[in-house]
Amino acid sequence: MTARTIAIASGKGGVGKTTVCANVSIALAQMGKKITLLDADLAMANLGITLGMEDTPVTLHEVLSGDANIEDAIYEGPAGLRFVPSGLSLDAFLRVDVEKLKPIVSTLLQDTDMLLIDAPGGLGKNVLGAMISAAELLIVTMPDPSALADALKTKLVGKRLNMEILGVVLNMVRGDKAEVTSEEVSVLLDSPILQSIPYDDNVKRGSVEGKPVLLRNPDSPASKAFKKLAAILAGEEIKEEEKQGFFKKIFGR
Ligand SMILES: Nc1ncnc2c1ncn2[C@@H]1O[C@H](COP(=O)(O)OP(=O)(O)O)[C@@H](O)[C@H]1O
Ligand SMILES: [Mg+2]
Repeated sequence: MTARTIAIASGKGGVGKTTVCANVSIALAQMGKKITLLDADLAMANLGITLGMEDTPVTLHEVLSGDANIEDAIYEGPAGLRFVPSGLSLDAFLRVDVEKLKPIVSTLLQDTDMLLIDAPGGLGKNVLGAMISAAELLIVTMPDPSALADALKTKLVGKRLNMEILGVVLNMVRGDKAEVTSEEVSVLLDSPILQSIPYDDNVKRGSVEGKPVLLRNPDSPASKAFKKLAAILAGEEIKEEEKQGFFKKIFGR
């Protein structure tokens, strides 16, 4: 079976791409999947900070600038997931060649079930580099108009690149009346809402401590939503339906 590659993008920054990427990857790894997590936010890398994994001397920057092999930039993260960080050095960033990303992703796929790519904000060269390297697109957004406008552009670019649009993660939902509703978001983006993630103070506290909420507060509202999203991405829901169909066939007669 070929490994899946999912880019996580949003257009707008600060909507929770990195948070979703980190927590969903941990949940998938906890389910027994072989997960590789790639920080493609080359300019503003912070997946390492989010995971509490900042001690990573060799990063994607050195690999993309031709100074290191990808094997040297793979680190073991929570629940045994494989993590490829980006660097924090501005000098190294300026020497990076994003066109090398796609062949690197091919190498990473050899030993993984699912590769998740944390894309940068915007729609510049580095975002396109991340999107071109993946077959599937997961859009993260927030229930506010400017985030939604950017999410729509991101989706349209994904379509032009012939990506499979998996759907939308609606993050930081507070449930107040002023908010755009999940139905409205779905219509506006013409995509299914795979999961809503509530605004959860534990996520913020976790990010201050460098501990993903899924590890820090496994039963908090956001963690539960991340686990549901992981099950959806892994196709567990579909399996459950198939199972029901199977039992109906056997016992329904
Ligand atoms: N569901 C949530 N509840 C509360 N805070 C959140 C939630 N999701 C993300 N955040 C916070 O929002 C900020 C931006 O998140 P981040 O994942 O870095 O966004 P992006 O990668 O899209 O720029 C971080 O401080 C993060 O802790
Ligand atoms: Mg980010």
